[in-house]
Amino acid sequence: MNRLEDIIADAQARLDAAVADRHAAMHSPVVGTPDGEMRIMVLRAAAPGLNALRFHTDARSPKVATIARYGRASVLAHDPAARVQLRLAGLARIEQHGALADAAWDAAAVFSRRCYLATHGPGAALAEPGSALPADLLGRRPTHEETEAARDVFAVLVVEPDTLDWLRLDAQGGVRARFERGEQGWVGNWVAP
Ligand SMILES: Cc1cc2nc3c(=O)[nH]c(=O)nc-3n(C[C@H](O)[C@H](O)[C@H](O)COP(=O)(O)O)c2cc1C
Repeated sequence: MNRLEDIIADAQARLDAAVADRHAAMHSPVVGTPDGEMRIMVLRAAAPGLNALRFHTDARSPKVATIARYGRASVLAHDPAARVQLRLAGLARIEQHGALADAAWDAAAVFSRRCYLATHGPGAALAEPGSALPADLLGRRPTHEETEAARDVFAVLVVEPDTLDWLRLDAQGGVRARFERGEQGWVGNWVAP
């Protein structure tokens, strides 16, 4: 890969593959927030041009308030076999209502939707270990209708990257490039790995 535009295309291809295939290396990146917290999240969509990355979450989870407060997030993805690391950062927002969240909710599988039926939001204290799902929903596939009640707490996280750091390590020492989003799209330069 000798051209900077090939690097952008490579990052896009890796993230597209991550969305399409749950076994892909970058399927579950680390999402960081400006409060210093990090967590694994499943990448649900990557728009062309790396314009937006989409994740799904529970509106009750602490990261939602953090993102509303700071308006930024970072995404770290790693392919161990290829020894490629992607670091992206940019504007972040939560969409809990509206067309984007509605469409994501409608497209979600019932088992994914079931998570949002938990009686307690992520991080809430529990008296015993467990999922916080109502007992009658454990060990079975809920009906589509049963999951509808969870729509209220379902939210979409959108990250619009404005920086990308691409690194591949190899026997020769590796290649690294850093990009910023300019008026005309991604502008990058090679840097030492
Ligand atoms: C394999 C795996 C996949 C996960 N996917 C998501 C996800 O897509 N969305 C999400 O909000 N949390 C996901 N989580 C849980 C988060 O890592 C985190 O524990 C939770 O969202 C609470 O985060 P917070 O306290 O920072 O808000 C996943 C965890 C694991 C282990």
